[in-house]
Amino acid sequence: MTESGKGGILANARVLIIGLLVVILIPGLALVFGAIGNSVNPEAQEQPNVLVNSTDSCVSCHRNTTPGIVSQYGHSTMAAANVTCTDCHEVAESYPGAVEHEGTWVLREPTTAKCETCHQAEVAQYNQSRHGLPAYVAMVGAEALDEDLLAIYEAIPEGGFNPDRSRNALFHMEGPEITRFACESCHNIGKPAPDGSVGQCTKCHLRHEFSLEQARKPETCNNCHIGPDHPQWEIYQESPHGIAYATDGENWNWDAEPGTLTVEDFPAPTCATCHMSGFGAQGTTHDVGDRLTWYLFAPISERRPSWQDNQVRMQSVCQECHNANFIEEFYTDADALVEAVNGWVQESREIIAPLRENGLLTDEPFDQPVDFIFFDLWHHWGRTAKFGAWMQGADYVQWHGAYEMLRELAELREYVEETMAEYEASNAIEDAGEANAATGG
Ligand code: HEC
Ligand code: HEC
Ligand code: HEC
Ligand code: HEC
Ligand code: HEC
Ligand code: HEC
Ligand code: HEC
Ligand code: HEC
Repeated sequence: MTESGKGGILANARVLIIGLLVVILIPGLALVFGAIGNSVNPEAQEQPNVLVNSTDSCVSCHRNTTPGIVSQYGHSTMAAANVTCTDCHEVAESYPGAVEHEGTWVLREPTTAKCETCHQAEVAQYNQSRHGLPAYVAMVGAEALDEDLLAIYEAIPEGGFNPDRSRNALFHMEGPEITRFACESCHNIGKPAPDGSVGQCTKCHLRHEFSLEQARKPETCNNCHIGPDHPQWEIYQESPHGIAYATDGENWNWDAEPGTLTVEDFPAPTCATCHMSGFGAQGTTHDVGDRLTWYLFAPISERRPSWQDNQVRMQSVCQECHNANFIEEFYTDADALVEAVNGWVQESREIIAPLRENGLLTDEPFDQPVDFIFFDLWHHWGRTAKFGAWMQGADYVQWHGAYEMLRELAELREYVEETMAEYEASNAIEDAGEANAATGG
């Protein structure tokens, strides 16, 4: 395009170079600055900070004292809907837990009672679920609840089920120096607050951003649903659903309006899709037990009181993507696996029964190696096998599940046989001694 004539070649070349510089440099610079902008604050592009020009007194001062909090909150849809710092934080002087602050009274940690003023449905569902008081009781025991809380706890239909008497033993053995960073980090999801309301919404809605994308991503659940005894996160990662998430998740519609989600938004499910989201015909719920058939966490699993209705709800989620026969067969097979694992746990109980009957197990939990073997057998491997089957993690059903159970059944058998043989031998010696004493020989 510059071949217009010999005399013009130089001038044309100069124009071309300048032109090229403009064409290359300006978008290049834009890309560079864009990238910097992105790495500093990726949210900024989706949802502008609505508090930039706010003259609210909390915001004005906290812009300097805690700029992170103001920035996060500024990008939330709640800030855009004019919900203010005071809506959550400000309380009357007499309110339980109130601290004096800048001429008013505030809560350091706004409770679910504050959220409830605007989100009754979510709080009610949450309180019906095992994320509420049952999660706290699992850790500390029902003895820790006062009369009012005990009444709430006992009224939760699927809440009171606690088959394992020694479930709080580790909490009490380890002591607060340890448990503050261990059990409590996870089980405080159901902790009661000084005002009597229950739970910590910010375990999933990480503070001040209240982002749907963050709450819906499985990494949010993996804060707690991880590890040898409840590896739901690891299982999900190796499942076809988790693979779809890992390989294509960035294209899913994470901020879609709640209650309207379809396969167009999520071609494969996350934890939230199956357990919480409104998906297809199913409404959104904060009761994470609402779609469950079994008490899988129990040593020996039983069906839940309203398991038929729960099952219909879960299957209706599956059926958005799988056909009815596929799901029916899957449920029949997974039910059979639960019964098989129940059988092995029952067998382990029968194996150690002679130790109990002859007083060879101490009353103290976790003071003999055999206590740990017996516990791991159902608490780690039995549960893992069940979770693996229901959420498509074959490795967890097999090598972290069934195989470990068989190994520990063998260890238990050997231990019990040896211990009983020693016990019987020492009894025989005693009997012989007594017999000798009686005959005077
Ligand atoms: C004049 C400045 C100023 C104003 C106005 C102000 N704050 Fe603060 N606020 C602070 C400072 C400073 C801290 C302490 C920060 C720290 O310790 O890092 C604080 C702490 C807090 C805390 C934590 C309290 C604690 O004891 O841990 C909360 C919650 C809070 N402010 C909320 C609010 C709310 C809500 C408003 C509006 C009603 C507000 N603040 C108004 C300066 C202010
Ligand atoms: C939708 C409710 C809500 C709104 C609105 C809200 N907060 Fe909070 N804030 C919370 C919750 C819940 C916590 C405690 C969370 C926790 O500790 O896990 C908290 C904690 C805090 C803390 C103490 C925690 C810390 O890390 O220092 C400060 C300070 C604070 N908020 C300031 C603000 C300010 C300033 C605003 C307005 C820009 C604001 N909050 C708006 C719910 C809210
Ligand atoms: C004063 C009323 C009010 C209070 C108090 C309040 N919220 Fe909200 N919240 C709203 C409104 C209004 C919206 C809807 C924003 C929208 O979608 O436009 C909302 C939306 C939300 C969302 C969905 C965000 C989204 O992007 O759709 C979450 C999550 C949430 N709130 C959590 C909480 C939690 C947790 C608390 C307590 C710590 C709380 N809210 C306290 C009024 C409130
Ligand atoms: C990493 C987070 C985490 C830690 C740490 C943790 N738990 Fe859990 N715990 C969970 C999750 C998640 C479940 C739910 C498993 C399920 O439903 O399948 C659970 C289930 C339980 C259950 C069975 C449910 C019930 O109500 O009977 C008990 C009991 C329990 N935990 C007690 C404890 C105790 C005691 C500690 C500390 C010694 C502890 N947990 C530490 C996350 C944790
Ligand atoms: C176990 C994690 C978890 C906890 C704990 C949790 N939420 Fe949510 N929340 C979610 C998820 C996931 C969604 C998005 C559901 C969906 O996909 O539509 C959500 C959505 C919401 C929404 C928007 C719902 C709608 O239909 O517009 C509100 C409001 C909300 N949560 C409030 C709360 C409150 C209040 C609490 C505490 C009582 C709470 N959440 C505790 C995970 C959680
Ligand atoms: C802060 C820790 C924590 C986080 C985060 C968390 N959970 Fe849980 N979850 C628990 C504990 C603890 C239990 C066990 C409660 C019990 O049975 O005592 C539990 C139980 C459950 C159960 C079984 C409920 C029942 O009725 O047996 C489901 C399903 C569940 N969670 C799903 C989720 C999903 C989905 C997410 C993420 C969106 C999530 N959880 C995030 C701690 C957590
Ligand atoms: C494809 C749907 C699906 C996905 C995705 C999924 N789950 Fe599940 N989950 C199930 C089914 C089905 C069960 C068994 C329910 C029953 O008892 O009928 C289950 C069981 C559970 C349980 C055991 C409850 C008990 O009784 O002990 C927990 C906890 C749980 N899921 C958490 C999670 C978490 C966390 C994730 C993500 C890391 C996740 N789930 C991903 C469908 C799903
Ligand atoms: C949003 C769509 C979606 C939902 C909802 C969904 N799945 Fe899937 N599922 C998939 C995709 C995609 C795959 C991987 C491709 C395939 O194998 O068909 C898959 C694969 C599977 C597989 C493995 C199939 C194989 O051949 O290995 C099983 C089992 C399964 N899902 C069970 C379930 C169950 C049970 C539910 C409900 C609790 C469910 N799915 C909910 C999309 C979904």
